[in-house]
Amino acid sequence: MTRYQQVLDELKQQPKRWLITGCAGFIGSNLLEVLLRHDQVVVGLDNFATGFQRNLDQVQALVTAEQWQRFRFIEGDICSADDCNRACTDVDYVLHQAALGSVPRSIEDPARTNAANISGFLNVLIAARDAKVSGFVYAASSSTYGDHPALPKVEANIGKPLSPYAVTKYVNELYADVFSRTYQFHSAGLRYFNVFGPRQDPNGAYAAVIPKWTAAMIAGDDVAINGDGETSRDFCFIANAVQANILAAVTPLESSEVFNVAVGDRTTLNQLFSSIKQCLQQQGISYPKAAVYRDFRAGDVRHSQADISKAQQQLGYQPEFRIGQGLEQAMPWYIELNS
Ligand SMILES: NC(=O)c1ccc[n+]([C@@H]2O[C@H](COP(=O)([O-])OP(=O)(O)OC[C@H]3O[C@@H](n4cnc5c(N)ncnc54)[C@H](O)[C@@H]3O)[C@@H](O)[C@H]2O)c1
Repeated sequence: MTRYQQVLDELKQQPKRWLITGCAGFIGSNLLEVLLRHDQVVVGLDNFATGFQRNLDQVQALVTAEQWQRFRFIEGDICSADDCNRACTDVDYVLHQAALGSVPRSIEDPARTNAANISGFLNVLIAARDAKVSGFVYAASSSTYGDHPALPKVEANIGKPLSPYAVTKYVNELYADVFSRTYQFHSAGLRYFNVFGPRQDPNGAYAAVIPKWTAAMIAGDDVAINGDGETSRDFCFIANAVQANILAAVTPLESSEVFNVAVGDRTTLNQLFSSIKQCLQQQGISYPKAAVYRDFRAGDVRHSQADISKAQQQLGYQPEFRIGQGLEQAMPWYIELNS
């Protein structure tokens, strides 16, 4: 039995109280689904900046009525200290996901990204510290590796941030570290590497590559690749990220720690294009067009691949899905959403 399975079994026998910030978003709603399926008591905080009521509705449809009763939603803003204090009351574990994602969004509007990702983060951190929660996990980012050229990425070696978004995620880590030293409030930052899966928004200018390309292929639209297509990423299926959150929350830490959350694989955008096309083909949807190449995008790192040994050793993290398996799992959801 894996440590994750063991932890889930223990939680089911002795349910805990969780706060998920950003719970109407992609990662937050997937955390909600797994925690409710395991009979946990969950408070969710979200202001619907980039999240959706439909994500919460979908989770409701996937759990029992009894499990749904254990969920309480607060429509609120992490930029409000009051909302954060209210949400943290009587909570055992915090999974802080709320933030404004996207590198290009942060380049267009750095002040808005800063407000949610730094001031909002600090509010949640203070509220969790004051509520004396047992575990605090937050969404960090692989963008913190910035211009550091080494591959695979190891937690201790980071470069200079390449975007305002990356600055905000690095500042989260700095605050977490200072709270650990100053108040003995320890936390785990999860440096996610391109997470994908059901409920990730395919629409809008700031959509992530997998949902965006899949939606475009289903609609028969052009798929644009930024650069030569040899840019690479360590795509991480959502179930792996959920596992990392739950393990990190229940693992006692003596300091603030950051962990890479990915698979340890490297896929180029050209390979990704072929894989999505193939996956859709298996579902009876063919996409005859070739990709359209355009300029590289500002702020993007060229290559990204994680060394996941720290999370494996310290948290017992064992990713269950590689990219191909994740795409197969996610495809029916994308097809339903886009048809
Ligand atoms: N998806 C990825 O590949 C990835 C990679 C690295 C880091 N992250 C981080 O993971 C977290 C979750 O990302 P996601 O992909 O689920 O994005 P998402 O946009 O789907 O979810 C973020 C949620 O936070 C909410 N939110 C934003 N600002 C808020 C505020 N001020 N108050 C309350 N709620 C607010 C949004 O409404 C949304 O529901 C974010 O912190 C993001 O930066 C994601």
